[in-house]
Amino acid sequence: MFATRPSWRDAPAELAAGVQRVCGASIVGSRDVHGGMSPGPAAVLRLADGRRVFVKAVSRAVSEPSHRFYQREAVALAALPVETPAPVLLGSIEVTTEGVIRIAAAAKGAREAAGAARPETGGEGAGAADIACGADGWFALVMSVAEGVPAGPPWTGDGVGLVRDACEVIGALPAPDVVPPIGQILTDLDGWELLAAGDPALLDGWERQNVAALAELAARWQGWTAGTALVHQDVRADNAIVDLVARRAVLVDWSFGCAGAPWLDRARLAADIVGAGHRDGPAAALRAATKILDALPGDAARFVAALGGMWRYRSTLAAPPGHPTLRPWQRERARLIRPLLATLL
Ligand SMILES: Nc1ncnc2c1ncn2[C@@H]1O[C@H](COP(=O)(O)OP(=O)(O)O)[C@@H](O)[C@H]1O
Ligand SMILES: [Mg+2]
Repeated sequence: MFATRPSWRDAPAELAAGVQRVCGASIVGSRDVHGGMSPGPAAVLRLADGRRVFVKAVSRAVSEPSHRFYQREAVALAALPVETPAPVLLGSIEVTTEGVIRIAAAAKGAREAAGAARPETGGEGAGAADIACGADGWFALVMSVAEGVPAGPPWTGDGVGLVRDACEVIGALPAPDVVPPIGQILTDLDGWELLAAGDPALLDGWERQNVAALAELAARWQGWTAGTALVHQDVRADNAIVDLVARRAVLVDWSFGCAGAPWLDRARLAADIVGAGHRDGPAAALRAATKILDALPGDAARFVAALGGMWRYRSTLAAPPGHPTLRPWQRERARLIRPLLATLL
């Protein structure tokens, strides 16, 4: 279901050199991290000074969208309010098509908060340094390690509670100016409407019967999803790390960070619990999701219906290069959340 990630050890040496420049220390060990959606290496690196950092990187040649998403994530991470339950960006490394490696160190305050040493390049505050380099078209993010374990899949009672609380904290924060409004990044929330107007043979019996009602639930979503709250917008078990000792959750993978209504992440969490599954079974997943939605404004249920349409519609499109598992994942996701959709009709 998830992307197969290459090992960090096979990444271009220039990226490792870039990480060392960002961190101001050499890398003495790496542990690959699997999971997530991008076809690039992700790893926890051990540094000579005893610190650990998380790095993820992707080549534009393998996935142009992921390359763009990682760049967007660097912008979002650097601008998040300090109270956000998110990793701290230490810096980013771009290997351009001109064969130049560009290192951007995060703001000095952010590095200090993460216990980082001053980088060897970049001077005070944000900075950049270019050095000649052979690898082509890579982008890497270096950030603090989120301690704990992925919230799933499958979800657990503890994981749901901690991630729900983190989503509530995020929804109470203002979105920074640099992140786009949700309407700019979620373009297919009218998926049921598009499917209703398309080839009926693409839909199964249940979908044909309910597509009009689902389209009506999702209608006019640009209006009711809009807002000024911070939204992570990709809340999934694999994008949340829970620390069961400290009793807190951190959301990772901020590529889709945006501005919108304050309840959006909790609604997306509800959909993911049913879509990704709960350790205690489908009935427990449905109960947990319903409990979350019941505490939110009615538009949250409409959003879940709209998400179902987005996944189902996108599953009918051609697979993007480098992501062979994406369309089957979307198809399966739309099928798995059907019991939740049925409660909304
Ligand atoms: N800062 C971090 N600290 C520890 N683990 C992380 C961190 N960020 C991400 N991860 C882990 O690495 C996986 C891939 O990272 P993610 O940011 O989700 O990348 P992708 O864009 O490929 O989905 C995540 O599913 C999560 O388990
Ligand atoms: Mg991810």
